[in-house]
Amino acid sequence: MLQGKFVVLGVTGSIAAYKAVELVRLLKKKGANVQVVMTRSATEFVTPLTFQVLSGNPVITDMFEKPVRWEVEHVSLADKADLFVVAPATANIIAKMAAGIADDMLTASILATRAKVLVVPAMNVHMYCNPITQENISYLKEKGFSVMEPEEGFLACGYLGKGRFPEPDKIMEVIERLVGNSNDLKNKRILITAGPTREPIDPVRFISNRSSGKMGYALAEAAVERGGEVILISGPTCLPQPAGLFKYIAVETAQDMKEQVLKFFPWSDVVIKAAAVADYKPKCYSERKIKKKDSEMVLELTKNPDILKELGEKKDKQLLVGFAAETDEIKENALEKLRQKNLDLIVVNDVTAEGAGFEVDTNIVKIIYKDGSMEELPKMTKKDLAHVILDRIVQILRS
Ligand SMILES: Cc1cc2nc3c(=O)[nH]c(=O)nc-3n(C[C@H](O)[C@H](O)[C@H](O)COP(=O)(O)O)c2cc1C
Repeated sequence: MLQGKFVVLGVTGSIAAYKAVELVRLLKKKGANVQVVMTRSATEFVTPLTFQVLSGNPVITDMFEKPVRWEVEHVSLADKADLFVVAPATANIIAKMAAGIADDMLTASILATRAKVLVVPAMNVHMYCNPITQENISYLKEKGFSVMEPEEGFLACGYLGKGRFPEPDKIMEVIERLVGNSNDLKNKRILITAGPTREPIDPVRFISNRSSGKMGYALAEAAVERGGEVILISGPTCLPQPAGLFKYIAVETAQDMKEQVLKFFPWSDVVIKAAAVADYKPKCYSERKIKKKDSEMVLELTKNPDILKELGEKKDKQLLVGFAAETDEIKENALEKLRQKNLDLIVVNDVTAEGAGFEVDTNIVKIIYKDGSMEELPKMTKKDLAHVILDRIVQILRS
């Protein structure tokens, strides 16, 4: 997949810089042409000579150094790249990228490139969790950068927590996806729903659920990365709008979501319903705030429309994917839902398992297909899972 691809690897001043050496070896093994650019700090950790020998290219460390070959001047490096990978990425380089600073060869080239950029943070847990770093990462994601989640575990600084550089083979999977599959959803129109719905009780209260929207947003990001034309219809979440969408539609209630989904259903080739639509809503909405009384209060609920079922009935060309959050008899319940709602596949998670379901960044799911077969997937980030689900959708579209 990487044969003949030009990958610029930016190495920055993290203790994990030595692990980038293995990344160069793996990239070369897959046939990529690797150009390493090191920050000045990075050279304190690993010598440029190591990267030069392994990549077979002179390493760039200084923007004003006389180039060995003229085509490595920063703008041509930016133009030539199929992919930029910043691994490991320090808190400092992330902040500089987010601010548009271009004071060394790496940051200047990143600012000048139109290629995809993958950022692989590695740092102390407190540096990573610092709201400033988190905001910088969110901002980069919003602007279309791919950012990998660091792993949790013992860090070089002695702390236990999130911030570890992922294993190079995991980074390779993401690189291959970014470069290799980038266009397998080209010309495909993909409608994705995400997040919870809110069903108002009175002007200040509502009933809702714990969906964070992370799975649906990861799917939207991943589908855009693979060249899809994506409409994201989202209930209320705290997540930044993914970059590159064809359309983003914010909704509040199940009824709003139904209207928007039905409006764009004929437009779509693939519909992925990752939203957690409330099954019930208050029977009566009070125009005025309900006053607290000494007696108990009974809230009567009525059924919300079943959007997925309606889509299953209406579907012609569309490939329909549903999600199920189950706690008991997972396979049986999910298979019944798949058949009842005429789905092509259903992604089911046991929301009681640690690292699965609502609010967390990871998920553990089973994918169940029309023929009743089931695929069990290991725990993975929602972004990785999004790509696996899209891989399966592409397989069905091609079959
Ligand atoms: C021993 C040592 C290890 C470091 N490890 C990291 C690290 O893993 N992540 C990080 O963000 N900064 C780390 N730093 C701090 C950076 O090297 C420092 O912020 C530097 O300015 C980064 O420069 P650069 O982003 O231009 O490479 C470390 C510093 C030292 C002295």
